[in-house]
Amino acid sequence: MYLFFILAELVFLIGASLYLISLSYSWLSGAPYVATKRKSLAKIIEHAHIQDGQNIIELGSGDGRFLQAVAKKYSITGLGVDVNPLPIFKARFLARIQKISTIKFKIQNIKDTDLSNADLIYAYLLPKFIKTIESQLLKQTKKGVMIASHAFKIDYLEKYLVDTVKGETFKTYFYKMS
Ligand SMILES: C[S@@+](CC[C@H](N)C(=O)[O-])C[C@H]1O[C@@H](n2cnc3c(N)ncnc32)[C@H](O)[C@@H]1O
Repeated sequence: MYLFFILAELVFLIGASLYLISLSYSWLSGAPYVATKRKSLAKIIEHAHIQDGQNIIELGSGDGRFLQAVAKKYSITGLGVDVNPLPIFKARFLARIQKISTIKFKIQNIKDTDLSNADLIYAYLLPKFIKTIESQLLKQTKKGVMIASHAFKIDYLEKYLVDTVKGETFKTYFYKMS
């Protein structure tokens, strides 16, 4: 019995340490792992004007809730990238149990992600990091792509701002590139 409690404590400590390490890793890479509120998703999706056949990329996809919600409503393809393996495993698991096969989740840095075939890009990232991907967003994306930024405005895209939607906690800003 005594041994059981020691083992349980050990498993808990290892799990908690891994979780804390993964949170710090997310933060150091560009943004902490904080998910978009589920209650805000429907409104964000509505304002993104998604159409069947579109390809959607989520930058820093966390547990993939945005892409999963979109894929349940529309016939789209999607890619979620995140540097943190833990939310990626969770996203894959959640997609599998919901029987969603049109979206993929990859352990990958946003900076190594090709954005040229995206019709919609969704991101919930810190302004400091968003600044570092300015040329990627401006040069790699195709004409007409919608970029949705949850919680933070993207200053260098100001002239492309077409819509703002108020969510549970934060606004989401929509930029239509031309
Ligand atoms: C604020 S969370 C948003 C999660 C998800 N998009 C959502 O809205 O629920 C930011 C995510 O970006 C990821 N991230 C931070 N920097 C990254 C980078 N350079 N490349 C890929 N993912 C990154 C973090 O690991 C974290 O999961």
